[in-house]
Amino acid sequence: LNHVLEAAVNSLSDLSIREINFGSDEFAQMVELRNRVLRRPLGLLLSASDIEKDARDIHFVAVIGGEMVGCLILTEIDKETARMRQVAVDSSVQGRGVGRKLVEAFETRAQSLGFSKIILYARDSAIPFYLKLGYEAFGEPFTEVTLVHRKMRKSL
Ligand SMILES: CC(C)(COP(=O)(O)OP(=O)(O)OC[C@H]1O[C@@H](n2cnc3c(N)ncnc32)[C@H](O)[C@@H]1OP(=O)(O)O)[C@@H](O)C(=O)NCCC(=O)NCCS
Repeated sequence: LNHVLEAAVNSLSDLSIREINFGSDEFAQMVELRNRVLRRPLGLLLSASDIEKDARDIHFVAVIGGEMVGCLILTEIDKETARMRQVAVDSSVQGRGVGRKLVEAFETRAQSLGFSKIILYARDSAIPFYLKLGYEAFGEPFTEVTLVHRKMRKSL
């Protein structure tokens, strides 16, 4: 991070959360961010069939100083329930509130679309993050992409 970006991240000034379109240039950048944060550290990459599943979803990105630093995806499960997935913040800006802003933007949008429940599959390491934001764990732990996960939920 350069100094200007560092200052912007520290104060979270100039942070914008935007919705982007599937298949756009920004979507390609988002796939790269997801690979960098969520897949490559596990020795994996998103496949073409993973990405096909994104086509009907809503894609959110966090941008600071022109740099895409975070993302998440809203998938409709049923009329009441939205799933939050692919939550990722670039390692250079983690722990500075970008993840919280993304989740808050997701919740506001989900509520305006008429959803009353959010579910997600949290990596063990991310459970404390979601607990801080009012989510609760339920069900048995399970393994996905080599990592232990729990289901979590929140009512809006
Ligand atoms: C998990 C992740 C999305 C959180 O985003 P972030 O921008 O780092 O989190 P924030 O800075 O907004 O944190 C919000 C709060 O949660 C806390 N928190 C964040 N990650 C935490 C963790 N791993 N353990 C404990 N607390 C955590 C923060 O301290 C902060 O608390 P505060 O408001 O009391 O200061 C991000 O760290 C990340 O992308 N991690 C790697 C990929 C990943 O695990 N994604 C989730 C897959 S389910």
